[in-house]
Amino acid sequence: MARRKKLYEGKAKILYEGPEPGTIVQYFKDDATAFNAEKRDVIEGKGVLNNRLSEFFMTGLNTIGVPTHFMKRLNMREQLVRQVDIVPLEIIVRNYAAGTLAKRLGLEEGTALPRPIVEFCLKNDDLGDPLVAEEHIIAFNWASQQDLDDMVALALRVNDFLSGVMYGVGIRVADFKIEVGRVYDGDYQRLIIADEISPDSCRLWDIETGQKLDKDVFRRDLGSLTDAYTEVARRLGVLPNAAPHYTKPTLIN
Ligand code: CDP
Repeated sequence: MARRKKLYEGKAKILYEGPEPGTIVQYFKDDATAFNAEKRDVIEGKGVLNNRLSEFFMTGLNTIGVPTHFMKRLNMREQLVRQVDIVPLEIIVRNYAAGTLAKRLGLEEGTALPRPIVEFCLKNDDLGDPLVAEEHIIAFNWASQQDLDDMVALALRVNDFLSGVMYGVGIRVADFKIEVGRVYDGDYQRLIIADEISPDSCRLWDIETGQKLDKDVFRRDLGSLTDAYTEVARRLGVLPNAAPHYTKPTLIN
């Protein structure tokens, strides 16, 4: 078999040249990093779970008309995606205070926010992905005003989808990060969701117990990361041979 050309290796994924022009193979590694890669480990099986979970979320988004780069899953660790020009921003959506927002504004973790808040960080590991304002984004030409409006609209649609799907299996989406990329149809360009959507890039809390089911388990040494991700996959019915989770019906008097 011909060796594929490696295009890029990141902290959790490797990108290879795809079989057709305009396609890429995204390989999910087992590497876990946190605090800008100061904490790192290899968590066996994480890549397999994230490949499946990202497939699940991206397929759902494609189906409801939120465009993503996802084309199909190829095997346990790889998926075929559309090649995009990545916008050098991380788009964070928050429903509950946690992480850097809780620290920055002195909010108690878990505080419900008055409405979903969309933030932008510059993708730059050397600088620790700093928070940037729309002013910076426009001034430095990382994205146009139209792109900004489109990114906020996409991010809020992803939030409604993710929050709704996860609510159905008893999980609260406290926050998450997405990335978007540009694709070109002739002269026309548009933004689509790229990268991955998985418990590596979300904060997921059990609605009843508050148990963390995301990468905070690794960041804060709260137990087995694969157990947490497996639980998310099991509830969503994503794992083969696993019964999906149904929330208990609430009786109204
Ligand atoms: O995760 P951390 O506390 O460093 O930063 P945050 O700004 O509170 O992160 C908000 C959300 O974005 C969390 O769900 C993170 O997992 C996610 N995120 C990410 O996936 N990648 C980053 N480079 C930064 C945040």
